Formats: sequence, C-alpha cells, structure tokens
Amino acid sequence: MNDTKRKILVTAALPYANGSIHLGHMLEYVQTDIWARFQRAQGHETWFAWADDAHGTPIMLSAQRQGITPEQLIERMNAEHQADFRDFGLSYDNFSSTHSDANRELVGMIFERLRDGGHVVEKTISQFYDEREGMFLPDRFIKGTCPKCKTPDQYGDSCEACGSTYAPTDLIDPRSAVSGTSPVMRDSEHHFVRLERFGDALKAWTASGALQSEVRNKLQEWFTDGLRDWDVTRDAPYFGFRIPGTEDKYFYVWVDAPVGYMASFRELSEREGLDFDAWWTPGTDTELHHFIGKDIVYFHTLFWPAMLMGAGLRTPTGVHAHGFLTVDGTKMSKSRGTFIMARTYLDHLDPDCLRYYFCAKLGPGLGDIDLNLEDFVARVNADLVGKVVNIASRCAGFIHRGFDGELAAELPEPALYAEFLAERPAIAADFEGRNYQSAIRRIMALADRANRYIDEHKPWLMAKEKGREAEVQAVCTQGINLFRVLITLLAPAIPFTAEKSATFLGREVRLWSDLDQPLVGARLAPFQPLLHRIDPLKVDAILEASKASLQATESPAATDTPARDLDLAEEIGIDDFTKVDLRVARIVAAEAVPEADKLLRLTLDLGGQTRNVFAGIKSAYDPEDLVGRLTVMVANLKPRKMRFGVSEGMVLAAGGGQGLFILSPDEGAEPGDRVS
Ligand code: 2FM
Ligand code: ZN
Repeated sequence: MNDTKRKILVTAALPYANGSIHLGHMLEYVQTDIWARFQRAQGHETWFAWADDAHGTPIMLSAQRQGITPEQLIERMNAEHQADFRDFGLSYDNFSSTHSDANRELVGMIFERLRDGGHVVEKTISQFYDEREGMFLPDRFIKGTCPKCKTPDQYGDSCEACGSTYAPTDLIDPRSAVSGTSPVMRDSEHHFVRLERFGDALKAWTASGALQSEVRNKLQEWFTDGLRDWDVTRDAPYFGFRIPGTEDKYFYVWVDAPVGYMASFRELSEREGLDFDAWWTPGTDTELHHFIGKDIVYFHTLFWPAMLMGAGLRTPTGVHAHGFLTVDGTKMSKSRGTFIMARTYLDHLDPDCLRYYFCAKLGPGLGDIDLNLEDFVARVNADLVGKVVNIASRCAGFIHRGFDGELAAELPEPALYAEFLAERPAIAADFEGRNYQSAIRRIMALADRANRYIDEHKPWLMAKEKGREAEVQAVCTQGINLFRVLITLLAPAIPFTAEKSATFLGREVRLWSDLDQPLVGARLAPFQPLLHRIDPLKVDAILEASKASLQATESPAATDTPARDLDLAEEIGIDDFTKVDLRVARIVAAEAVPEADKLLRLTLDLGGQTRNVFAGIKSAYDPEDLVGRLTVMVANLKPRKMRFGVSEGMVLAAGGGQGLFILSPDEGAEPGDRVS
C-alpha cells in the first residue's frame, strides 16, 4: 500500500451543453470515475471537478432555433446531464458550467497575464462573413464543393469524401450553412497566442511523463511542423466571454473550456476550504489529471499547457487520452439503434453492468473500445453474477440459516486470505496506470480461486452431516471474506453493487487497507440480491428504443471541432431500394403506450387494410394531433413482436437534427398510394 497521501484533482472532458449524453461520453466518464474512486480507496485526497462546455456558436444557434436564450439552454442541459451522471454513479465533487463567474474571472486573469508577458499579438484576418445573418462564419458553418475531389456539400475545414483538409476559402462555391447565402470576405482584428514562444517549455513538459507514448509521438510531429500562432478571438455575435478592452470580440470557446476545469475546482475549493492557489502554483506537490478523448489531444497538450505556462500556473501531471467507443465493431449508428443515449441505457439496465464492461475493456492506450452487445451480456452474467455475487449468495444462506447471520471468530485458511491480499499491489498498479482490463483479469482469477475453494469444501454437503456445523460456518466465513476482498477491489468499477454489499456485510466497502483486518465474529445483514443477470431482451429493447427515437443529439454542425462523419448507412443499389414498399397511410387512431417513454401506438389505414404500428415519436407529438393525418409507412416490413404487441410496419420520420418530424405527403394523396 502507498503510505504517502497524495492530493489529486481529476477531470473528464467537458461535454457540450447542447447535446444529450450518449454511451461514447460515458466511456470516458466511467474511466475517469473509476480512477477517482480507486484513488480515494487508497486513501488519497481526490477531487473530481468538471463542468458543461457552455460557449460557442453552435450553442448560440441551437438556442436561437429553440426560441430560448443560451442561458436557458445551458441551464436545462446542465440539469439533464447531471441527472444522467448521478444515475450512472459518477462520484464527482463539483459539476459547474464554463459560463460561471469563477470562469469569467480566471479566463480574464490568464489572458491578462499572457498579454502582459508579451505572448499575445493582434493581427487582422480576413474571414467569411454571412451578410444576411450578420456574423462571421466558423469553418464548420461553411459548406461547399471540395477543391480536391469536387464532392459537393463539404464543410469548410475538411472533406468527408477524400479526407483532405483546406481553408474555407479554398472551397468551390462556398455557402453559409446558417442562411444558405454566399458569404463575403471581411476583415477583423483578432488576438493570437504566440505558441512558438512556449515551444521549449512544452517539449520539456512533454518529456515529464505526463503523456502516453502515442501522444508524445504525435506531439513530436506537431513540433516538427512548427507551432503556429493560435487565434483566440471570435467576433460578435457569439455566446461566450467578451475579451476585456474590446466591444465585440469574444474568447474562442476552446480558451475558456479548459479554464473551466480550474474554475470548477475553484468553486469546490471555496466550498471545501481548500487552498486553491497552492494547487495551481508551479512546483506544487498536488496532481492534476485530465481524462480526454483522442480527438482533443491538441487542445490539451499544446494550447492548455501553454496558457498555464504563460500565466505562471502549474501544468498537468497527466493527460490521459482514450480511444472512441464502437458498438458491435462499428461506429455508433442511429439507424442500427447503436447510438445509445445514457438515459436509454438507464431506462433498461443497471449502470454497474456497463461500468464493469467498460472497465474490463479499457487499457492504457488510445485504441478504440468495442461494446460487443452479446459479449457484454455474457461477460457480465458470467463474471459479476456467476462468479462474484454468487460467492456471497452461496455462503450467506448457510451463515443465516445455521448461525443466525454470525461469522466464525477466525478464518480457517488465513494463508488463502493472505494470497488474495498479496495481489493488491499488482491490481493497484493496474488501476493507477489505467490498465483496467489487466486489473479485472487479476480480480477474476481471484474470483475463480474463491469459487474453487467453496467447491472443494462443499458446505452444502457438510451442512447435511451432524457435527460439522463449525466447519460449515468456517468455510462460509472464509468465502464471505474472499467475497469482501473481491467487492472492495471491484468497488471503483461497480459502486452500486459495492454499496449493497456494504449493507449486507455491515461494513463500509471503501479503503483497500480495511482489508488488512478480515471480517470475523461479525453479524451479516439479511442477504439481498446484489446484481441481477442481464436479460438479453433488455439489450434488444435498448436497440429498439434507440432506433425508435432517432432523437436529436447534436445538430450536424453542432461542434466547433473538426468535421465528424455524417454516418451514412451502407450504399445500396436501386434494387435494394425498390424492395421497400412505401405507402401513404392515414392515422386513424393514436395513443400513448404507458409503459414506454418514447412510443405511440398508431392505427393506420392503408386504403382497405388496417395496421398496428408502434412509433417512437411520443416526445414530439400529442396523439390526438395525429389523428386524421396522412403519413408515409414501410408497408412490407416483417411484423416485429415488441413488449407491448406486434408492430406491423414503420412510419417514416425525420430526426437527428433539432426534433422529430413525421413525413406527410401533400394534399391529394390517398391511403394506399405507392411512394417512390
Ligand atoms: O470536445 C468536446 O466535447 C469539448 N466540449 C471538450 C472540452 S474539454 C475541456 F477542454 F474543456
Ligand atoms: Zn474531397
């Protein structure tokens, strides 16, 4: 065990405040939370502070489209995000918003220091400007034809078809994605941070052990390419912090986002009476660890440390990047139902199951992590339910029936218990180095050993023989103690199950050092099931619900970071398309399905035939408003048995943007008409 008490601040990347949380986000938050919980379990002073990333053009436009103020939007999303986080068991100490007073103050202070240090230059730049909307256009809000491969409708920074990157001015026939008009070039005065001045200090920091080797290599490339001045200004209209001394210039969202880590910690410091300044002084013995996705390494390993250095503040101890989440081997896809929102998962399954699976898959590198749904069910059921929880339930029955819940006064095999404890340092090193998969392998090997112990001693046979009562109690006491070791080591990954186990054991499950003393002579609380097997039908229900919702998460141009894929389905021929029989249908009845959050039951008249169809549009429509309306349905879809009945087709709806809209033909179409 580590005797020195460390002081650790942990952060996860700040989610944008205009989208709901999905399992891709959760992978990172679970990784971060496991690490924070692990550190607390070693007795270290550990704080987990973060926030919503509330600024930027996408959030401003999203609020506009919804007819609310950006402040209203970010407040609403903050509450939604935190509800998801709490229900997933994230043990953060503070969750703020980058639109906070603390952040405004710190951003101002850092910028002032950068400027005073001569690290900021002003330059006039020429940018696309949307005259109709009266705004400069970020690269992601300009679309046009790729100058290389001539594919139309590409973003202003890169082409999704050929992968080339370019300046928006290189686009052929550029258009504003906000108004659709042709933008004009307009000059504006911008502030730039002179990154090159931090080149040497950044190189030294890079060599300090803060980074994974893949990231270090990437940085070498960037150093070789040369560090260009970083444009930290955005022109009004913008939702952000105004740059002091200007009328209409704002800090780019990526300036105040990482400072948001610090600001959230400042709020926490005030609440908890921590010495905030001491934590941020260069040379401090406190640690600062950022968990991030591999797509935002640049911001966290160049811009952010340069800002800290320029402002005379400490640099991060570790920046830990992870890969992306895939589901069943491919990118999360709305059409396949694998774009799963955190809330949809929580509606059906226990958070510990996913937390465990992520833990069992996460390694220290940047490789992508696959959530293989079949393997997920098999692994959770085999490992957690079949091996770990099973030990407790097998032993608890005998202790309760024969000994009124009381454990034996000593362990019959202290050497075996000691063997388990001897694995602690290796498992701790795995968690510390974010090699969670290795930690889980070791813990599961111990679980196998514990089950073998019980199988060898067969308390169920002994219990039938007179005079062997003490042996039964001893073996089960040993079993319960081995279980206690396992659940303590697993607690960072499965906090809810650990909490229930603590109730059953009548002891906190927290510090790993508590295991030094075995649990003997104590009375157990009545045994309650700690975790249920995953029913594979629940996973099907998650996919169905995700498919059905096709809900808005982020609008296509909702981020200010480089282009993401459009997530087109696999290309098909016309023959494939004509297999789909699309027909006009009239909605003759509509009602909510009370047991399902998202579903309406629709009765559709196809011009002679009636169909019962479940549609995931409850969030967008009142059932009575739909009655009498024409829509378009897939009429030859094989009937699907759902929990609430059979669905005989599918209604077409548009989604993925800011809402959900069922398709309707123009006046004059009749039920049964073919749609092609
Ligand atoms: O990429 C993103 O989702 C950003 N919102 C992450 C910000 S992390 C930090 F720098 F604030
Ligand atoms: Zn191209």
